[in-house]
Amino acid sequence: MNLKIGVIKGDGIGPEIVTEAMKVLNKVAEVYGHTCDYTQLLMGGASIDVHGVPLTDETIAEAKACDAVLMGSIGGDAKTSPWYKLEPSKRPEAGLLKIRKALNLFANLRPAVLYDELKGACPLKEEITEGGFDMMIMRELTGGLYFGERKTEEVNGVMTAQDSLTYNEEEIRRIAKRGLDKANVLDSSRLWRKVVEEVSKDYPEVTVENMLVDNCAMQLVKDPKQFDVILTENMFGDILSDEASMVTGSIGMLASASLNETKFGLYEPSGGSAPDIAGKGIANPIATILSAAMMLRFSFDLDKEADSIEAAVSKVLKDGYRTIDIMSDGKTQIGTEEMGSLIAANIQ
Ligand code: IPM
Ligand code: MG
Repeated sequence: MNLKIGVIKGDGIGPEIVTEAMKVLNKVAEVYGHTCDYTQLLMGGASIDVHGVPLTDETIAEAKACDAVLMGSIGGDAKTSPWYKLEPSKRPEAGLLKIRKALNLFANLRPAVLYDELKGACPLKEEITEGGFDMMIMRELTGGLYFGERKTEEVNGVMTAQDSLTYNEEEIRRIAKRGLDKANVLDSSRLWRKVVEEVSKDYPEVTVENMLVDNCAMQLVKDPKQFDVILTENMFGDILSDEASMVTGSIGMLASASLNETKFGLYEPSGGSAPDIAGKGIANPIATILSAAMMLRFSFDLDKEADSIEAAVSKVLKDGYRTIDIMSDGKTQIGTEEMGSLIAANIQ
């Protein structure tokens, strides 16, 4: 199969971690008899430097022409980077928001899994993480606070945790349908709750439980095992997925897929561009590599190939190799490139 993949390396650690994910994809292609046809795309600061804007219409069109897009990260140091002297709509992050909207990527999946091997890197007490946990954060990605400030002011004036009034019913229905296959569900608004309850009637095998976001943030550290799926709106999902990632040991482990109603998806680690460690060769490429596995699974239906990446990651962790962010006593610390090479070498 020929895999037509758009590649947004982006800013900060982006180029380093994407290079490792491509190394692993190339190995998978070699072992399983596929070809990777990459199209390099500019977004974020890298695009500002060339085009003066964080995302051009041409780039959106090029992305659409691919079957999937693999992305690193965008953005720089807000204090020192010249990108942040620009008006907000021209800054790197605006490019990411624009591509999510332009490609209608409304469903963001962020799996938070505690690997047995990484228990040592998890900041929670052992009795809490005993047995591990495996949850999916399902974040609505094209609405909510991110996209509707004006509407919010008109309707309410004050945005409270329970009232994300910037959604319309149709938007919530879309994500609720996609998300409810086995769920505990986080409630973030009365409308959200109403629609989720309605949609859940079509899925009697799913247990739906409404939870307020502040309580959920607390429950995530008190008892993360209770969650299978957290279905939530855009801003809450942004915050809770960072929290969940830390519970798994490091944000460098958290993959993510942003999907529309077709097979197309944008795959990126949930973490940021980490400008403080960019270019040092120490960033953890695992979240990006696991995002590439999600890409093979969701956009190309290549389950075996995706499994092989996930198994290779587990193997390398089992063998005791760690990047600095997940390092613990008695393990072998390695850099970004070595981690990518070891995972690629373990693809079978
Ligand atoms: C994320 C990031 C983005 C977001 C930023 C970079 C715009 O934090 O993907 O979680 O807020 O969605
Ligand atoms: Mg975030």
